[in-house]
Amino acid sequence: MRISVIGCGYLGAVHAAAMASIGHEVVGVDVDEEKVRRLSRGSAPFFEPELDSLLTAGIASGSLRFSVDPREARDATVHFISVGTPQQAGSDAADLTHLDGAVSALMAAVKDGDIVVGKSTVPVGTAERMAQRLRGTGATLVWNPEFLREGWAVKDTVDPDRLVVGVPVLGDDAAASLPGTPTPEGERAAAVLREVFAPAIATGTPFLVTDYATAELVKVAANAFLATKISFINAMAEIAESTGADVVQLADALGRDARIGHRFLGAGIGFGGGCLPKDIRAFTARAEELGRGDAVRFLREVDEINLRRRDRPVALATEALSGSVHGRRITVLGAAFKPHSDDVRDSPGLHIAARLHGLGAHVTVTDPAALENARRAHPELSYVADRDHALRGAEVVLVVTEWDDYRHALDPERAGALVSVKTVIDGRNCLDPSSWRTAGWDYYGMGRPSVRSRAAVRSRAALDDRAVSGALV
Ligand code: UGA
Repeated sequence: MRISVIGCGYLGAVHAAAMASIGHEVVGVDVDEEKVRRLSRGSAPFFEPELDSLLTAGIASGSLRFSVDPREARDATVHFISVGTPQQAGSDAADLTHLDGAVSALMAAVKDGDIVVGKSTVPVGTAERMAQRLRGTGATLVWNPEFLREGWAVKDTVDPDRLVVGVPVLGDDAAASLPGTPTPEGERAAAVLREVFAPAIATGTPFLVTDYATAELVKVAANAFLATKISFINAMAEIAESTGADVVQLADALGRDARIGHRFLGAGIGFGGGCLPKDIRAFTARAEELGRGDAVRFLREVDEINLRRRDRPVALATEALSGSVHGRRITVLGAAFKPHSDDVRDSPGLHIAARLHGLGAHVTVTDPAALENARRAHPELSYVADRDHALRGAEVVLVVTEWDDYRHALDPERAGALVSVKTVIDGRNCLDPSSWRTAGWDYYGMGRPSVRSRAAVRSRAALDDRAVSGALV
């Protein structure tokens, strides 16, 4: 099929390359000339495993090209919109400027019978508005949210967990229709998308047809659920820190209940990136607009728990350095919001590094992929590409991104010979505490007991005991 992809950021570039890889003829359109130049050379403007080879193969075979001219979309019959919907400045709501711009550009390119497919994450109700804008062009709008994860974007696009397709449905007044029954054009649009995604469907990927609002909600609800799961375990980490319990053992035991599961129960410094934080805020803002703020008020708490976790490594570093980080040397391992990515948007680790710098520490940051982006976001910090060089002379080592380079490839004996004080704060609970302790390190995890926290718990128990005995007397 002939496909256009409007917006070639993270989502669009991967989608365009993936669609070409499954046999479609694809043009990717973006307003950013430099991005289009790079993509046309087969080089992704961001770090994503497997993407460069997919781009190169598509371009070489002639099935993939990129352009700044939206008129290039005219030959296509299916048009994906994959522009960003960032958080508005000064508000929690999503900024739909790029989406409105993409629809305007498409209105001049689409023809009767074309399918326009929204993939961007949007506030519920947006698809209906976009469908009204497209009325009169003869094109049908469908909403097909994307669930890809950075670092796994190619796999998630080619072989997704599920495909959700929101289509126009019959109105309540339509005689004898069940609510949510697709209109004839909705049926046709769903059939076209079945053809687009035929290889994934053939391998068993569920294809779920819904109305617009449900499709839009599936996306934000999924991200809200994932964020809630992370904040839940981080809330347990806070309780563990006051009781001497170990949140890693707790998560392991909880996850063995098949109804709960292990994934996204990783306690640490919390979630960041360009999706979960802004999506839960935009969801809350939209629910408030709809007069249903109460239904998702807990997401404000989820956000607060998440942001509060960033205080913990700062407090631990301050404690380890006897009350002040001022003038002390702290090495931060990681800058990306998660491994296998060079994305530093709302990166908890980078935020912590900047706070420590603000408190007067000499902070050195290293990361296998995200140094350039980190430098642009926080030019005030010192950056060192080589991990071992970065470790030299550190008085505290802080792990904020669980790259393999730190979790598996960093030997505590070897690291111990490089630093000046053997204190490590594991912001992602990704190191093995016993091997670090055996190598002579003071190890601090998130929500995990340390010698110091155990002593505090024991003295609190003694006080409680005295209070209880006193009350009994
Ligand atoms: C997230 C969703 O997982 C995707 O399904 C969705 O498509 C995407 O947002 C999006 O809306 O575009 P992503 O932002 O790539 O994907 O990252 P995640 O893998 O979800 O991780 C988000 C953050 O949570 C990271 O900072 C990660 O370190 C943190 N995290 C994750 C934890 O703190 N603990 C965990 O157990 C898991």
